Parts: sequence; structure tokens; C-alpha cells
Amino acid sequence: MENAFKLDLEKIKSQARAQMQKGAMTPSYGHDREAVIATLNEVLATEIVCTLRYRNNAQVAHGIHAESVAAEFKQHAAEEQEHADLVAQRIVQLGGEPNMDPKTLAARSHAEYTTSSNLRELLQENLVAERVAVATYSEIVRWLGDRDPTTRRLMETLLEKEEEHADELASLLDAP
Ligand SMILES: [Fe+2]
Ligand SMILES: [Fe+2]
Repeated sequence: MENAFKLDLEKIKSQARAQMQKGAMTPSYGHDREAVIATLNEVLATEIVCTLRYRNNAQVAHGIHAESVAAEFKQHAAEEQEHADLVAQRIVQLGGEPNMDPKTLAARSHAEYTTSSNLRELLQENLVAERVAVATYSEIVRWLGDRDPTTRRLMETLLEKEEEHADELASLLDAP
């Protein structure tokens, strides 16, 4: 059985005990920890900016279909906030610090903060922001590969949701 699964369990056990202060981080972590934390902080900034944009846009949405659009924006805002919390939690697990500094938030975000008094423009700009997130998160998932499966799964969960958001916005834009 050339490909049998083998473990040096004694070594794993002694390392687990020797470096307890590292929490979930063990020597088997296969990625560049600092690089993953830095990337997750960009995702965190993106999620916070998206939360703020949707919260603003839910308030300023006026006109035909405005109520259904505002309700959708509110729901997206809540989901982006959830994403931000999940990403911050993972940064802490990796031994990093979640950067929520408002001074640099917009510059570090992949997506832009936008607002408008025009309902159609609001929908279009949110669709663009979601499409940016879909593209950048897809790249991050590929970059993580098998080297950090936990962070990859988290990013896949976010990616799935952003695709759903983009789809919902596209449907609202198509609505007569
Ligand atoms: Fe999100
Ligand atoms: Fe989204």
C-alpha cells in the first residue's frame, strides 16, 4: 500500500503540547500566515464597505419599486455584516488582528462605496460591487488552494453569497 495514509502521531502530539499558545495554528499549516491575514484584512475592509453602502442605499432608495429594493439592500447589508464578522474571526484564529480602522477602510476595500438618488444607479453600482467581489474572491479561493482549507471554505461560502447577491440585483434591474 504505497499511498497508505501515515501519521507521525508522536511528533504531532508533542508539537501540539509544546506550542499551545498558538491556539488553532499548528506546524501543519501549509500557507504563508502573514499573507493570508493581509488578504483577509482586504476582504474584511470590502465587507465593511459593502455593509455601509447597502445600509446607506437602503435609506436613500426612492421611486418605483423602492420598497422591494430597500428591503433587498437591508438584507444584503445584514449578510455582508455577517461576512465581516466571520472574516474577522478567522483573522484572530490565525493569530492576526482584524483591521477595522475607518481611516483606511475605503482604500483597502476591493469594492467601492457609492450612493445615488437614482434607484437604477443604486442597483447598477451594487451589481458592479458584487461582481468585483465575485472576481476577487474567486482569485483568493484559487490562491488558497489546498494550503489553508479552512480559510478557503470560508471564502467559498462568501463567494457563493456574493454570486447570489449579484443575481438578485440583476433580476431587480430587469424588473419592468
Ligand atoms: Fe459579503
Ligand atoms: Fe454581497
